Amino acid sequence: MRRIAVFLALVFAVGTVNAEPGDPVNGRIVVEHWCSNCHALTGTETEPDRAPTFSEIMKERDRDARFLTGFLREDHFPMTTYRLFEHEKGDVVAFLVSLKDE
Ligand code: HEC
Repeated sequence: MRRIAVFLALVFAVGTVNAEPGDPVNGRIVVEHWCSNCHALTGTETEPDRAPTFSEIMKERDRDARFLTGFLREDHFPMTTYRLFEHEKGDVVAFLVSLKDE
């Protein structure tokens, strides 16, 4: 009986994790690794050669999880060679959306 309870607890825990929309902590790691060459996280970009910072991007209207999910489905110039795993995309979206609240 006890084993069944432990088993059910595990199934429940894993199920709960899967239901999460994305992990912003991991999203930050992915962004710092793959995106920070071009995008700073916060502040206002002053270098004309660099991409807008993520806080600038997220300040625009309609920059929500839906926009980002669609955006990450496609490549954006000049970042044509980057490929994120599907689960990483969800994490990146969660992290970028969290910047909106700051
Ligand atoms: C090689 C440089 C480069 C890398 C790496 C890069 N980007 Fe970009 N990104 C850009 C540039 C340049 C723009 C601005 C393009 C424009 O406004 O047309 C941009 C724009 C964006 C935008 C805003 C699009 C819009 O419509 O305003 C988002 C969101 C974005 N990038 C997300 C990411 C994410 C997430 C990563 C990492 C997985 C990433 N970028 C990596 C260069 C890069």
